[in-house]
Amino acid sequence: APLKSLVGLPDFQWAARRYMNTSAYTYYRNGAAGEWSYRNNLEVFQRFRLRPRVMRDITKIDSSFPTTMLGYNFSAPFFISPCARGGYAHPDGELGLVKGAAQGNILYMPSLYSSKKIDEIYAARGNNSQQILFQQVYLDGGLNDTQKLFRDIEAKGAKAIVMTIDSPGDGIRHRAARYSVGSANTDYTLLTWDLYQQFANMTSLPIVLKGIQTVEDAREAVKNGVKAIFLSNHGGRQLDSSPSSLEIALEIYNEAPEIFQQTEVYADGGVRYGADILKLLALGVRAVGVGRPFMYANIYGAEGVAKAVSILKYELANDAANLGVGDIHKIGPEYVNWKSTNAW
Ligand code: FNR
Repeated sequence: APLKSLVGLPDFQWAARRYMNTSAYTYYRNGAAGEWSYRNNLEVFQRFRLRPRVMRDITKIDSSFPTTMLGYNFSAPFFISPCARGGYAHPDGELGLVKGAAQGNILYMPSLYSSKKIDEIYAARGNNSQQILFQQVYLDGGLNDTQKLFRDIEAKGAKAIVMTIDSPGDGIRHRAARYSVGSANTDYTLLTWDLYQQFANMTSLPIVLKGIQTVEDAREAVKNGVKAIFLSNHGGRQLDSSPSSLEIALEIYNEAPEIFQQTEVYADGGVRYGADILKLLALGVRAVGVGRPFMYANIYGAEGVAKAVSILKYELANDAANLGVGDIHKIGPEYVNWKSTNAW
């Protein structure tokens, strides 16, 4: 499909489904087990209705939404979540993602399991190599290996380390297993808060903890001095029946709302429309990650990724206007009806 015919983020999935070979597409699309969490991530946004306010002056809305994450400036409160194997969509792999993020002036978090070498990804940074990247890592618990990895990441110029903690074991992914893509070993990694402190002492970079799924662990992260927490169930790819980030954010909002002030809170999973982002921001989430849609958009390379960014910015501005929100950073929980309902 020609790029100009795609009008919303879901369109990229259908384009990718037709373009990519089935096993590669399946690796991107897959969720864990019965895929209840995968579907819930998408559907949860529709269970909470907006509460649009009218007769508001919204004429100042434009399509740039200055957002800071750990003190760095971006043009939108959304970013590209770390996803492995960008090469399945395009021979340029992650280079399309890093360049698309540069064009849209948003944050990209490269995965440790990228198709391209980390060197190549950082060499492709825009803005005279000043483009900000937060590097995702998986750690196996070994102190020496971790020290080496952190040194390497610091040398490349990453501005933060995104430590993924929701994957002590591989996700049980039936679709991918049928095509033998993705691993399914029985090794389990034990990361603990004690180890976290040792890791944090090894680097001057701030650490983002990705995969917080309860208010208890959010509290624990704050207690441990974590600079930013990232609410995520890994796109429903790890533990089926794990909660969506909107449900986690709501739990934190109800039980310990101060956490949104004590640390930066990011969230991802199932975000496809401008209104989805607004619902997360309404609870106090600072920035929202998008995974699969950008991976699918990358079948068109950087141009496709940049187009997906501009679609989402357009929707964010338009939805905010129709919601009666002049400044999206001032949106509060009163713009959403938090009584969940199933019926449409
Ligand atoms: C991921 N995700 C992921 N997360 C991570 O921390 N490290 C990684 O290497 C990967 N790899 C990966 C590959 C693919 C193909 C997907 C789809 C996802 C999870 C990712 O960061 C993010 O949490 C989800 O993708 C968000 O959900 P949506 O936006 O895809 O619905």
